[in-house]
Amino acid sequence: MNAAELRGVSYVYSKNTPFCKVAVDHIDIAFEEKLVTGIIGHTGSGKSTVSQLLNGLLRPSEGEVLVEDRDIWKEPKKIRNVRFAVGLVFQYPEYQLFEETVYKDIAFGPKNMGLDEKEIDERVRLAASLVGLSEDTFERSPFRSLGRTEAPRCHRGCDGNAPEDPDPRRACGGT
Ligand SMILES: Nc1ncnc2c1ncn2[C@@H]1O[C@H](COP(=O)(O)OP(=O)(O)OP(=O)(O)O)[C@@H](O)[C@H]1O
Ligand SMILES: [Mg+2]
Repeated sequence: MNAAELRGVSYVYSKNTPFCKVAVDHIDIAFEEKLVTGIIGHTGSGKSTVSQLLNGLLRPSEGEVLVEDRDIWKEPKKIRNVRFAVGLVFQYPEYQLFEETVYKDIAFGPKNMGLDEKEIDERVRLAASLVGLSEDTFERSPFRSLGRTEAPRCHRGCDGNAPEDPDPRRACGGT
């Protein structure tokens, strides 16, 4: 089984307007489970568009996006659940930390999933351990006290959505 797959996917920005732009044009890609896959391409070649298609932030203009063999747009009302399963880390993570403490920042995602305190706590600790972030940092401010290597780690910790899968490669998707 592939972790994710794009089948005949196209994406057009600003369709039916003078600014119409075909960013992704009929592509097929399979992302195998347990493999780290990199996408390389020049500026504007469509890498970020592909990443956003993979977790349902963008809906393909054509084709199918599959996660664990399921078409993620089969039930559009449930698309939010896909975002809990496929994490996305944006560029410049250090600009995206916003809570008062490291702990609260990591807890932001699980909290928005509506989980109870115990589950949130477990996910925070697991996410931190997956990226090698010490619990000593939990009460510190993510802005002031973290070192240059710790801040990006903290942000990756925010993606604490999949504790059932202790594989950091899945827990820390990126774009
Ligand atoms: N919101 C948007 N509206 C219109 N066109 C867009 C939009 N976002 C991206 N594009 C265009 O779609 C194409 C693909 O953009 P995308 O951001 O996916 O490329 P990228 O490979 O991630 O680039 P970079 O290496 O600069 O991050 C580019 O031509 C870009 O100008
Ligand atoms: Mg990009």
